[in-house]
Amino acid sequence: MSETTSDPTAPVASPAPVSDFVKSEKPREPLLEIEGLEVSYRTASGEIPAVRGVDLTVHAGESVGLAGESGCGKSTLASTILRLQPSNATVRGGIRVCGKDVRTIGWSDLRALRWGQAAMVFQGALHSLNPVQRIGDQIAEPIRIHDSTPAKGIPARVRELLNQVGLPADRAQAFPHQLSGGQRQRVMIAMALACRPELIVADEPTTALDVMVQAQVLSLLTGLVEELGLGLLMITHDLSVLGSTCSRIAVMYAGRVVEEGPADEVFEHPQHPYSAALSAAFPRIGDPAARYAPAGLPGDPPNPQELPSGCTFHPRCPVALARCSEYDPPIRMAEPNRPVACVLVGEDGRDRSAAQSS
Ligand SMILES: Nc1ncnc2c1ncn2[C@@H]1O[C@H](COP(=O)(O)OP(=O)(O)O)[C@@H](O)[C@H]1O
Ligand code: SF4
Ligand SMILES: [Mg+2]
Repeated sequence: MSETTSDPTAPVASPAPVSDFVKSEKPREPLLEIEGLEVSYRTASGEIPAVRGVDLTVHAGESVGLAGESGCGKSTLASTILRLQPSNATVRGGIRVCGKDVRTIGWSDLRALRWGQAAMVFQGALHSLNPVQRIGDQIAEPIRIHDSTPAKGIPARVRELLNQVGLPADRAQAFPHQLSGGQRQRVMIAMALACRPELIVADEPTTALDVMVQAQVLSLLTGLVEELGLGLLMITHDLSVLGSTCSRIAVMYAGRVVEEGPADEVFEHPQHPYSAALSAAFPRIGDPAARYAPAGLPGDPPNPQELPSGCTFHPRCPVALARCSEYDPPIRMAEPNRPVACVLVGEDGRDRSAAQSS
């Protein structure tokens, strides 16, 4: 028991500084930890290296965006997170979800993980609703099979989920064709949330929607991250969407993450020339200079079976140096927590403006 004193002039023990409490807290394990991930596909025309050495981490309460043009390996990376890759894929490296080693856990643990701890919202998921089953029954199904909610509590849980995704409870009685595209995507998010996962992986969740509905669905997802303390990995080719909705962004090119950092920094002040080109491709509202910004990046991403030598971005890079065709730049820290793979950035990198004028 602590000692008390009646002397008002006696020195009072000062409370422990806030930083002591912070220090004494056990660091929370990331919800998703990817280390040195490599994925290749065996095909009749040879091996396709789709993901080439990716490190990525998502913590609770964090929305991480993964951006890059089509074919750069985003969906391949997403599918390996819950071991959903096709049978012709070879995976190397580490993937831990909620502390579990996804590559080695048994089937029953993997099944429990897929519903109870991590869930995916797929590209084109809009079309995967059963057209002849009511929305409420489709949301109830994973709860009935994988969750501990008692049967009589399921209708209330379905109403709660509809409410969480901003749909009125009576939509439970609707069939998919009676909903708009945005409402159907909200249903898919409700299904992903059904068994209370800690991590959501959303692969191009808004690609089929118009711009206004896209923005609503994305802010719904990031709002849920804050409200429920989830972790979100959001994948899209649209960097501007991630800049306004995520806390961090990783930019992928030809199977590698070439830049990662705080979302607004990567979008507004990109360090890698590829991120800069992606960012410039999306005009800023209200910025007159944006009208004259380059329309986009010339050329296409490389065929993974015929990757350019050196830096894989060099044939399209507006600031490439002669050595870029021979030298594959390692990842260096442009700033703390800002890894970038470009010879112009990092410890022995040169000043970008100098390179541009040379
Ligand atoms: N099942 C598969 N078999 C063979 N190659 C594949 C398969 N899936 C994807 N790929 C190839 O892997 C590369 C990366 O594809 P993907 O991961 O879908 O990229 P993204 O999602 O960024 O568009 C592409 O070259 C694609 O053609
Ligand atoms: S390493 Fe060279 S080619 Fe690659 S992004 Fe940097 S400047 Fe461009
Ligand atoms: Mg994809």
